[in-house]
Amino acid sequence: MLSISSPSSPEPYIRKPKSQPDEVLPRKSSLNSLNSLLANSYFNQSRAWLLLSILSIQIILLLGLRSIPFSFPHRHHFPSPYTDHLNISAKTIINISPSAAATTDEDECGSGRVFVYDLPSRFNTELIRNCDELNPWSSRCDALANDGFGQKATGLSGLVPESLAPAWYWTDQFVSEIIFHNRILRHKCRTTEPNNATAFYIPFYAGLAVGKFLWHNCTAKDRDRLCEMMLTWVQDQPYYKKSNGWNHFITMGRISWDFRRSKDQDWGSSCIYMPGMRNITRLLIERNPWDYFDVGVPYPTGFHPRSDSDILQWQEFVRTRNRTNLFCFAGAKRGAIKNDFRGLLLSHCQNESDSCRVVDCAGTRCSNGTSAILETFLNSDFCLQPRGDSFTRRSIFDCMLAGSIPVLFWKRTAYYQYDWFLPGEPERYSVFIHRNDVKNGTSVREVLESYSKEEVRKMREKVIDYIPKFVYARPQEGLESIKDAFDVAIDGVLKRFKEQEERFYKW
Ligand SMILES: *[C@@H]1O[C@H](CO)[C@@H](O)[C@H](O)[C@H]1NC(C)=O
Ligand SMILES: *[C@@H]1O[C@H](CO)[C@@H](O)[C@H](O)[C@H]1NC(C)=O
Ligand SMILES: *[C@@H]1O[C@H](CO)[C@@H](O)[C@H](O)[C@H]1NC(C)=O
Ligand SMILES: *[C@@H]1O[C@H](CO)[C@@H](O)[C@H](O)[C@H]1NC(C)=O
Ligand SMILES: *[C@@H]1O[C@H](CO)[C@@H](O)[C@H](O)[C@H]1NC(C)=O
Ligand SMILES: *[C@@H]1O[C@H](CO)[C@@H](O)[C@H](O)[C@H]1NC(C)=O
Ligand SMILES: *[C@@H]1O[C@H](CO)[C@@H](O)[C@H](O)[C@H]1NC(C)=O
Ligand SMILES: *[C@@H]1O[C@H](CO)[C@@H](O)[C@H](O)[C@H]1NC(C)=O
Repeated sequence: MLSISSPSSPEPYIRKPKSQPDEVLPRKSSLNSLNSLLANSYFNQSRAWLLLSILSIQIILLLGLRSIPFSFPHRHHFPSPYTDHLNISAKTIINISPSAAATTDEDECGSGRVFVYDLPSRFNTELIRNCDELNPWSSRCDALANDGFGQKATGLSGLVPESLAPAWYWTDQFVSEIIFHNRILRHKCRTTEPNNATAFYIPFYAGLAVGKFLWHNCTAKDRDRLCEMMLTWVQDQPYYKKSNGWNHFITMGRISWDFRRSKDQDWGSSCIYMPGMRNITRLLIERNPWDYFDVGVPYPTGFHPRSDSDILQWQEFVRTRNRTNLFCFAGAKRGAIKNDFRGLLLSHCQNESDSCRVVDCAGTRCSNGTSAILETFLNSDFCLQPRGDSFTRRSIFDCMLAGSIPVLFWKRTAYYQYDWFLPGEPERYSVFIHRNDVKNGTSVREVLESYSKEEVRKMREKVIDYIPKFVYARPQEGLESIKDAFDVAIDGVLKRFKEQEERFYKW
């Protein structure tokens, strides 16, 4: 996505967020009073909830460890519902029985169960079957292969440990809809009885549906059609009517701004602005920090661990890595960005070439299976992460996955995005340098050199601790005991819905 903006209008669809200052905490929503009321109580109570949830997690862990001594047999050995490639039919999906739910302890699903709507296939699997027409230039079939994880990564031998190379894919950044759908069908707390559900999942591939209409000379209607049809279908469901959508959620695999068109001639679809979407919780790779219903989830990266052991091995690998550069910058060396902030960072990095390494991402070099970026992150203590065409970038997660500490220049690039997935105190895992200070001549190198070896080690350790929370595991049943990004997201949604139910008993 981020490589495709035209030079003359580098940020075609960021009007709205731009008018709001980056530093204002998203406390007051101007959207409407209900929203701001919710957001406020949400923020005021979040500390108490955090404490409560930590306590309850510990209790659950204690109970869980006592009753399930080190084995999770029911989470394994399911036949894959999909073949290893793209040959998916709606039938295969429908036929999967949530056998896991039946054998699961009540305790494990203490926050509730999820019901997954059986949407008509045109809203999901049919889009994948037509992968060769999802964007106007080229087929996306390769990118969506292997259950959405993409092509197996090649060219990493010698760079990553041999035993972990098979866990790497050239994963597209916009595939979370597919990953979440596959995983939720196998979730241990899935139920087929809607009366027993706390949460209702809508497996609509909103990002794939709009993708092919973003660039062509298509009408606003084209871009909205499928979302509109989906909402008509969902609003007709008794459980939607019962809750006004409050216990429904969806994954939208692109950034929020791709679904927030307010005028026909503007960018994107207006999916999020449609009335039926009003109360539905949305999992997005970039959220609007002023909207309670937007939840930021990590961008998919290339590492998809097959087991707990893959994660532990990877953490050990990046922890013991010999890093030779103080910092690095991966970006395009194009004339077009000369005058913006990225150009400034690039120039700084080039001037400090004994401590900074530049990876040239001109053209598609970085999006298309190159090991150069991974290698650079693995070799650097810090990585510079300016905003891209939108506030967030997949690169932040690529960087942290390699055990490199992100250096941020906009708070909205991560701090207001991924609450459930990153540590609460930004200074423990990242460095923040205000962009204006850099423009005024603050040397990034000097700031980074001011951290002692021990401080750097501690921050890196924090980043490494959190790696499990932002990778998407390969097995559709999840990992044995480690919770990955998907697990964290579903737990978060269930907890949120339970909270809503308790606080506003009847809405
Ligand atoms: C998909 O499956 C059908 C029937 O199961 C088979 O005939 C077809 O060749 C498969 N297509 C691909 C691309 O594997
Ligand atoms: C739904 O909940 C009831 C009461 O707890 C239980 O008896 C029943 O087996 C559940 N149904 C399913 C499909 O999980
Ligand atoms: C898009 O289509 C409309 C109507 O068909 C036409 O008037 C307009 O010039 C087209 N715009 C571009 C950029 O091709
Ligand atoms: C959203 O929820 C509010 C409060 O329950 C309700 O008044 C409103 O009608 C709901 N909106 C839709 C589109 O269901
Ligand atoms: C780490 O890298 C430095 C610089 O290249 C080298 O001198 C040193 O021997 C390396 N240490 C290890 C343990 O590989
Ligand atoms: C990098 O060095 C060049 C040449 O000395 C200088 O013009 C430029 O301002 C420097 N860039 C930064 C960001 O310091
Ligand atoms: C990736 O790179 C290879 C070789 O550099 C090229 O043949 C291929 O078309 C590229 N794919 C994409 C999606 O850019
Ligand atoms: C940066 O420059 C601006 C304008 O030149 C000035 O107002 C501001 O105080 C400077 N900030 C710092 C931290 O030096």
